[in-house]
Amino acid sequence: MVANRCPEIEVVVVDINEDRIKAWNSDDLPIYEPGLDDVVKVCRGRNLFFSTDTHKHVQEADIVFVSVNTPTKTTGIGAGKAANLTYWEGAARLIAAVSTSSKIVVEKSTVPVKTADAIGKVLRRNCGDPNVQFEILSNPEFLAEGTAIEDLKNPDRVLIGGAETESGQKAIQVLKSVYEHWVPSERIITANLWSAELSKLTANAFLAQRISSVNAISALCEVTGADVQQVAHAIGMDSRIGRRFLNASVGFGGSCFQKDILNLCYVCETLGLQKVADYWHSVVSMNDYQKQRFVERIASSMFNTVYGKKIAVMGFAFKKDTGDTRETAAIDVCHGLIREGANIMIYDPKVPEEQVFKDLSMSKFEWDIPMSPTKADAKLRQNVSMHFDPYMAMDGAHALCIMTEWDEFKTYDYRKVYDSMVKPAYVFDGRNILDHDELRKIGFVVYAIGKPL
Ligand code: UGA
Repeated sequence: MVANRCPEIEVVVVDINEDRIKAWNSDDLPIYEPGLDDVVKVCRGRNLFFSTDTHKHVQEADIVFVSVNTPTKTTGIGAGKAANLTYWEGAARLIAAVSTSSKIVVEKSTVPVKTADAIGKVLRRNCGDPNVQFEILSNPEFLAEGTAIEDLKNPDRVLIGGAETESGQKAIQVLKSVYEHWVPSERIITANLWSAELSKLTANAFLAQRISSVNAISALCEVTGADVQQVAHAIGMDSRIGRRFLNASVGFGGSCFQKDILNLCYVCETLGLQKVADYWHSVVSMNDYQKQRFVERIASSMFNTVYGKKIAVMGFAFKKDTGDTRETAAIDVCHGLIREGANIMIYDPKVPEEQVFKDLSMSKFEWDIPMSPTKADAKLRQNVSMHFDPYMAMDGAHALCIMTEWDEFKTYDYRKVYDSMVKPAYVFDGRNILDHDELRKIGFVVYAIGKPL
C-alpha cells in the first residue's frame, strides 16, 4: 500500500527465500489475497521491487519494516506459548551489521510487549559505526486475511508507538507522514512503545474472546432451544457490544489469535500475573472445546459411530477467501474424525493437496518446517482423500461438514448432493451458512452451531 499510495517512495521487499521472491516477481504470487494482484501489477517495476539482496537494500533504506514471522516456540523454555523471536533477532543483527546510515526500524510483526527494548540492544551493540542511530517504532498491523487490501486502504486506525524522546517523536512524525498519503490524520494514533506493542496482542485477544464467548453461548443454545444467531443479533444491537465478530462457528483459526493469546498468557505468567494469564487462556480452552464438541456431536448424532463412514469435509482454510490453513479448525476436526475411524474426503477451492497432508501430519505450530512426504502422510492417505470437484467429495458420503464459509458452498445443487449420499444424509454446518430449512425439506438431517434441531 505504501508503494501504491506514495509513488515518490521506493519500496523494496526483501526475503532470503529465493523461491518466494521469484514468485513475487512472477504472475503467480506466493499468496492468495483478493485485490493483491492488481496492486502489485500497478507498482512492480515502478517503485516496488522484490529482491533477495537483503544487505544492499537494508543498507540503502531510511526506514526498515521488519515483518518476519514470530511463531509460537515449539521446543525449549516457553514451548507452546512463548513467541519465537529468532527471526526478529536475526533481522536486527543483519540491520546492525550492514547499516552505514541512521535508520528507523519499524516493528510490523506481532511481538511480545518490551521487544523493542531487546531489539534496541541488539541493534546498538552490533553496529560498528558510532554515527549510526537507530530509532525503533512499533507499528502493529491490524489487517485481516481475505480483506487485507481493503483493510490497508481504509484502516480503522493506524497505531504508531515510539520512544518518548525528541528523536523518538521525530521518527513517529516521519512514519506518520507516510501514512498521511492515504489515511486521515485523525485515524493515525500515536502511543508510547509499550502501549503500541501491547495494543496489538490485546486487540487480537479481545476479538478472539468475542468468538469464544458467542461459541460458549452456542453450546447453551443447542441444549435449550435458543438460537445463537438470534441471541447474537439481540445483543449486537446494543451499541456498547456491537454486531461484528459475533458469528458462532466451529472455532477460530488462523496464524494469530491462538498464537497471540498464548503469548500474552506467557508474558503474564513470566511477570507473575497468573490470574490474568488464566483468564485469557480460557479463550483458547473454549475454542478447543468448541472443536471437540463439534466432533462429538457428529459421532453421537450418527448412532455413536463414524467408523468406516465417509465424511465430506467442505473447506479447509481457516476462513473464506484465503488459502491459509494455519491453526484452521478443520485440522482438529479431521484429527478427531480420523481417531474415530472415519474416512474423510476433503474439498477446498484454494488449499492444495500437499498442504492438507502436511497440516494433518505435522505437530502444532510447526508451520515453517518444509513440506516432505512422510510415513505419517502415507498412513493418513488410508483415511483421507482430497478432491478437486466438490460433488466428487460429497459423492457417497454419510455426512457433510462445513468447515469454511466459502460463498460457493451456498450455491451447490443440494438435491443432487442428497441423491448421491448414504441415508440418513447428515449436514453439520460449522459456519451456519447454508439454508437449513431448505436442506431439511430435501431430506437432510441438519445440525448447526447453536441452533435448535
Ligand atoms: C485477525 C484480526 O482480525 C486482525 O485484525 C489481525 O491483524 C490479524 O488477526 C493478525 O494479527 O494478523 P485474521 O486472523 O486474518 O485476522 O482473520 P479474522 O477475520 O480475525 O478471523 C480469525 C478466525 O476467527 C477465523 O477462523 C474466522 O473464521 C473466525 N471468526 C471470525 C469466527 O469464528 N467468528 C467471527 O465472528 C469472526
